Amino acid sequence: MIRIDIATLFTNMCENVIKESIIGRAIKAGHIEIYCHDIRNYTEDKHRRVDDKPYGGGTGMVMQAQPIYDCICDIKKQAGDVPVFYMSPKGRPLTQDKVKQLASLPGFIILCGHYEGVDERVLEELCAEEISIGDYVLTGGELPALVLSDAVARLQQGVLPNEEAYSIESHYNGLLEHPQYTRPEVWRERPVPEVLLTGDHSVIEKWQQEQALSVTARKRPDMLYKYLSEQREFDEYVCYKAYYKGKTADVAILCHSLLRKRVYTNREEKDVKKITDMIFKTAGFVQSDIKILPFYSKNQRGIVFEWYNALIKILQNHDINYEIIYKNGLNKGENEQKDVIFEQIP
Ligand SMILES: C[S@@+](CC[C@H](N)C(=O)[O-])C[C@H]1O[C@@H](n2cnc3c(N)ncnc32)[C@H](O)[C@@H]1O
Repeated sequence: MIRIDIATLFTNMCENVIKESIIGRAIKAGHIEIYCHDIRNYTEDKHRRVDDKPYGGGTGMVMQAQPIYDCICDIKKQAGDVPVFYMSPKGRPLTQDKVKQLASLPGFIILCGHYEGVDERVLEELCAEEISIGDYVLTGGELPALVLSDAVARLQQGVLPNEEAYSIESHYNGLLEHPQYTRPEVWRERPVPEVLLTGDHSVIEKWQQEQALSVTARKRPDMLYKYLSEQREFDEYVCYKAYYKGKTADVAILCHSLLRKRVYTNREEKDVKKITDMIFKTAGFVQSDIKILPFYSKNQRGIVFEWYNALIKILQNHDINYEIIYKNGLNKGENEQKDVIFEQIP
């Protein structure tokens, strides 16, 4: 059973959350152990202070090394010499892969910062690895610690009904999950997709897999690329379409035509020109007037995909809608395949 220890100045905040819902039940049932420790109990200051002004000046206070160090050494007496993670906006952003890795440990300690953060020397002394929950700044490490604990706890045996409950969810295998529906069968004239009512599990599973791919293509193209380049190399392709004032076009072609209309800023204009020229030279293939970006190999097509992403960012800045169509089944040498028809490029 995994043991998580949280070192914080706000034990109540953490305890109130972990005693609720699925995690609360899992702790009661003995599937996980989570303990909260008050760093303030370890201060040597007679006024119970745990922070001080930063050297070099500046606003805010910094948490002192001594109470943190003593608190964590004390935790290690009970928990063993487990790794220490400091929740910090400077850390690597947390991913499901990292969660999986931590979930396989026998235990770990989470340090929550507050105010301006903690004295750097205690992080060095404890060899603490910094973990961020995203590129934004919160007032304290308690919410991030709870996010991490929750994500790790739900992967422990017994916490969820079975492995399937988490293994087909978003991010677990590098894709987003297919859409979900529940009763009623029709709601505000919106029916549940027919395939889900067939009762045919293999057809339903196939539909769910296809949906996972297309949802990922639409919402997180960066994830789709990573998934494809890691898992499959020669049989996937993606087509970008963009809509501008009622017209549809391949993203690169649309960007190029908007250059003439001087839609972009000078800086963007330079980038767009560079990127679209490169894409025209190297990417995909033109089948009649349809441009498709296939994933032929990690190295070459990966770069092309990144160019497309850069273009998409520029489109987003100008509120130009785009859509990414994902299809599989295009094998090497099948470029001339006639039934691969997307939108006509105007
Ligand atoms: C106001 S922040 C300190 C930010 C720090 N001065 C900086 O600029 O990097 C206070 C504490 O909140 C926690 N925190 C804030 N944002 C976080 C994030 N995105 N991920 C993880 N922890 C975060 C950290 O524990 C941090 O010590």
